[in-house]
Amino acid sequence: MTTRTTTDWRSWQESWDRQQEWYMPDREERFRVMLDMVEACVGTAPRVLDLACGTGSITDRLLTRFPRATSVGVDLDPALLAIARGTFEGDERVSFVTADLKDPDWTRALPHDSYDAVLTATALHWLHAEPLAALYGQLAPLVRDGGVFMNADHMIDESTPRINAAERALRHARMERARGGGAVDWADWWALAAADPVLAGPTARRFEIYGEHADGVTPSVGWHVSALFGAGFGEARAVWRSPSDALVLALR
Ligand SMILES: C[S@@+](CC[C@H](N)C(=O)[O-])C[C@H]1O[C@@H](n2cnc3c(N)ncnc32)[C@H](O)[C@@H]1O
Repeated sequence: MTTRTTTDWRSWQESWDRQQEWYMPDREERFRVMLDMVEACVGTAPRVLDLACGTGSITDRLLTRFPRATSVGVDLDPALLAIARGTFEGDERVSFVTADLKDPDWTRALPHDSYDAVLTATALHWLHAEPLAALYGQLAPLVRDGGVFMNADHMIDESTPRINAAERALRHARMERARGGGAVDWADWWALAAADPVLAGPTARRFEIYGEHADGVTPSVGWHVSALFGAGFGEARAVWRSPSDALVLALR
C-alpha cells in the first residue's frame, strides 16, 4: 500500500504571508496600491508577469480582485515555486516558469513576449546594481506600449542617515516585540519548510542555490527611476512609499 502525502498549500501561503508581514506590516497596503495602479493603467483583465513571484502572493491578490486576469510567475526557488504550483494547480489562468533573473537569456523561458503589467515585490534587492539595471533593460521590451512595470521594495535614501537610523530602531523594536509574541522570522520559516516531508527536498535545493539569502542592494527611489528611464520607460515615479520602502511605477 502506498501512502499519499497531501499538503495544505493554503496554510503554507498563510504562514509565508505572516513571515513577510513580520518584516513589512504594510505589505497588503502596497499590494492594494499596486493593483489600483494596474486597474488605472491597464484595466481589469491584464496579462501579468509576477516577477520573482515566490509563492505567488501578487498573483493570488491579482486573481482575487480581477478574476479575468492571467498571470505568469517566474522565480528560481524550488521550494517557493512548489508552494506556488501547488496552490494554483488546475487554474488555467496561471503558469509558472523556473528561471534565474541574472541569466542573460532568462526571458526566453517565458510563454509570451509581451505583458500588460510586470509586477514584483520584495525581491529585486536580492540583485546588485549592475544586474538590476541590466534586468530593467530586459523588462522594458516585455511591457507593451502603455503597459506598466511596478516594483515594491526596500528603497533607502542614503542622504538622511539619522532619520533612517531612528526609523530603523523603531521598526526593529516593534519586530522584537512581535518575536516575543511568537512571530516566525525568515530562518524559522525555512526550518519549518525543511522539516516538512514534501518541502524538505526543494528546500535543500534552494539552500544550495542561494545559501541563506542572496546579496544585493537597496538603492533610493531616485536610482530606480533613473535606471527605468535609462531602460526605455517613458514615465517613472513612486506611487506609494513608507519611511523605508516604496512602490515605483514605470510606464511604457
Ligand atoms: C522575499 S521573496 C518575495 C516573493 C514574493 N514576491 C512576495 O512578495 O512574497 C524574494 C523572491 O525573489 C526571488 N529571487 C531572488 N533572486 C532571484 C533570481 N536571481 N532569479 C529568480 N528569482 C529570484 C527569490 O527566489 C524569492 O522568491
